[in-house]
Amino acid sequence: MKTINIILLGPPGAGKGTAAKMIAKKYSIPQISTGDIFREAVKKQTELGKRVKTIMEKGELVPDELTISLVKERLAQPDTERGYILDGFPRTVKQADELSKFQSIKAVINFNISEEEIIRRLSGRRVCKNCGAIYHITDYPPKKEGICDKCGGELYQRDDDKIEAIKKRLVVYNEQTAPLIDYYREKGLLYDINMSTPPEKITPENSFMQIEEIFKKLDLV
Ligand code: AP5
Repeated sequence: MKTINIILLGPPGAGKGTAAKMIAKKYSIPQISTGDIFREAVKKQTELGKRVKTIMEKGELVPDELTISLVKERLAQPDTERGYILDGFPRTVKQADELSKFQSIKAVINFNISEEEIIRRLSGRRVCKNCGAIYHITDYPPKKEGICDKCGGELYQRDDDKIEAIKKRLVVYNEQTAPLIDYYREKGLLYDINMSTPPEKITPENSFMQIEEIFKKLDLV
């Protein structure tokens, strides 16, 4: 049986969540976003949510042990049998080392994007409180301001999409997550996609096409 066990790697705002939703829908495999899991816990005010709330608002990383055990538990669920998309995990070399002990990853898709474009995208991002659909106030606005086209839910701005938190997230990314690019390149698993270089306009659709090309090349689908 073919399995699509992949990691989406890239800085905040690169478009990982948007692409993950498209892949999940087309190939009927789960998007496993540690950020979404943590945000849901914060919303529901669970013990986990209380632990991670301030860390996330500041744009810092949740401790490795906590994140790793949560992902281990999630990957043991039966819906991952035909594959999964890891979105936002691993984010440190420690997380990647631990993951390699119990999972076999087929490909790591690395989203390349400039910091200028990241700031522009994140400061304009809006997310549906109800279904998690992602919009941008100028690039991908909803039909009716503040309302989700898909489910009618209310759109909001994430606490960590304020400029100070964005800058902190970029520092954290460069220090702790960017080393994973070489880590996976050395293992022969890294595939780059371009998310911001002109002259071609990058849209969610053509990013998805770039990812599908990689899947076909690797005979994953
Ligand atoms: P997380 O939720 O993972 O945030 P992130 O990695 O910073 O990524 P984002 O969700 O901000 O961006 P994205 O790449 O998904 O972009 P999107 O598709 O939305 O993590 C949040 C926090 O949780 C962390 O700071 C940390 O505290 C904690 N955490 C999570 N995982 C952790 C871990 N493993 N270890 C420790 N802590 C962890 O797109 C952005 C915008 O661009 C949108 O407006 C969209 O419309 C637009 N857009 C998307 N794609 C395109 C495109 N192709 N062309 C044009 N515009 C596009």
